Amino acid sequence: MATRTQKPQVAGKRDSSPLDQSGLQGTQAPAQSDSGEAQGRHQLPPLPYPKAALEPHMSAETLEYHYGKHHKTYVEKLNKLIAGTRYADMELEEIIRTAQGPIFNNAAQAWNHTFFWNCLSPDAAGKPEGQLARAIDASFGSFAAFQDKFTSSAVELFGSGWTWLVKDRDGKVAIVTTSNADTPIAGDNKPLLTCDVWEHAYYIDYRNARPDFLKAYWKLANWGFANGNFQG
Ligand SMILES: [Fe+2]
Repeated sequence: MATRTQKPQVAGKRDSSPLDQSGLQGTQAPAQSDSGEAQGRHQLPPLPYPKAALEPHMSAETLEYHYGKHHKTYVEKLNKLIAGTRYADMELEEIIRTAQGPIFNNAAQAWNHTFFWNCLSPDAAGKPEGQLARAIDASFGSFAAFQDKFTSSAVELFGSGWTWLVKDRDGKVAIVTTSNADTPIAGDNKPLLTCDVWEHAYYIDYRNARPDFLKAYWKLANWGFANGNFQG
């Protein structure tokens, strides 16, 4: 199946969030600090594992920066940007479907990263099972063929962006790439699994060698999460 670049669409309604379907903690937990100071509508969700849990494939230092600085900054910037606007009381996905420019970028990056952390696991199975495995075979011929296509899509994506395994409207799986902050949830495709190919995802561990990062990614890909998304 051909890889295509997906543009964000402001239209397109999804029934529910893959994060919600998977019972994950999202970024929608209005909270106050111990001092009672409001922290903003959107919160940085906790990682699903300790920062060192993905070693040796992804270092704790990478998680310190990628999660603790980059992801955190997207959430903080989003809260600042939406203050006093019509986006202030919206759910994160509604912002992504309606906003443009910096508000879209920071909202989408907040969502994409929460999804990405859940696409990784210290107990990765190595390959999909069940319904998702059969859907991958149906679309790509084999898991190996899918893996090669996904890897080449990620390695060849120019600049910053994301490579996704998605389920389309017909229930078939496909690979899509998005540039910068763009995300399938702005459209009709349902994300199942993603790889962040912004340089900040791999520079500490692999410098500029994105292909090496993809080799590590396959050691961490959380097929249980992807299969749950597929069936959800
Ligand atoms: Fe990232």
